Amino acid sequence: MKRIWIVALVSLLSTALIACETDNANDQETEMDANNSEWAIALHGGAGVISRDLPEDERQQYYEGLEEALRIGEEVLRNGGSALDAVEQVVRNLEDNPLFNAGRGSVFTHEGTHELDAAIMDGSTLEAGALTGVTTVRNPVTLARKIMENSRHIFFSGNGAEVYADEMEVERVENEWFSTERRYQQLQRALEESSSYLQNPELGKDYLHFKYGTVGAAALDQNGNLAAATSTGGMTNKMYGRVGDVPIIGSGTYANDLAAISATGWGEQIMRNVSAHTIAAHMEFTGSSLQESMQFLLTERLNPGDAGFISVDRYGNVVMDMNTEGMFRAGANAAGFREVAIWEDE
Ligand code: GLY
Repeated sequence: MKRIWIVALVSLLSTALIACETDNANDQETEMDANNSEWAIALHGGAGVISRDLPEDERQQYYEGLEEALRIGEEVLRNGGSALDAVEQVVRNLEDNPLFNAGRGSVFTHEGTHELDAAIMDGSTLEAGALTGVTTVRNPVTLARKIMENSRHIFFSGNGAEVYADEMEVERVENEWFSTERRYQQLQRALEESSSYLQNPELGKDYLHFKYGTVGAAALDQNGNLAAATSTGGMTNKMYGRVGDVPIIGSGTYANDLAAISATGWGEQIMRNVSAHTIAAHMEFTGSSLQESMQFLLTERLNPGDAGFISVDRYGNVVMDMNTEGMFRAGANAAGFREVAIWEDE
């Protein structure tokens, strides 16, 4: 009888030992899976139906625009700058580039004007700043940061946001400053498509495909802090006062101590699924990786063609994925990862 007890005790101890070793192995695996990169940056210039027939010179312009923005982020982070500085500077650069739907180059509303949204979030403090419906702020991401750092609030809209921009000495421009010929032509096509759709609703809502485009960035700095920022002109032909996902903290923009995420795509769908926060919450509650959590959202929550996300986690992993045909995107980290891409199979 005594022998049986001893055998049972030894077997129990060895099981505990194996369990302990397995735990350590899992910990090591998690650490090894991660790059443990000192810094990381990811950015996007919009997702959606991006034709592979894009003429070579236009394609080249997009790659150059993404490359320029990526270099700005890399430089800030390599030199020890903060994740907040990196995402603000990257997004400012993309806002000033007329190729992308944010700042200059923003899409037109139904009335033929521009209404811009932006947000920024500091993952180390959960502080955030956001604005919607501004019509004269040249770089909305900078106003979002001023709101975060200088006001008692998080989210400003319309005229109030513009009054605050003056108080904070953030540059304002005429609304026409955001206009480009290409976006104007897009509005004309969208107006034609909407009127065909109204006359023939059997075309289905997928017929209206002017839903995409935004810019955003996510970064990890050498102090281990994460930040995300997003900026957009919204959706071509949008109705007066329409607010998209971008300035809704947790929908288009989110950062905490696990990951920083910026979304692009169909704002209404991104909002319905509180998308950026859902990715971070999935990581926290299930222990899944950033890649797995983003896959969960893209495949289990969103519909094909809805959206794309760029993100970095606390280990410096860069994850950029979408369920759209393409996403203008770029990313890099200190561990040697570097990518500038538009379509999936690049
Ligand atoms: N994702 C940008 C928007 O829908 O406004």
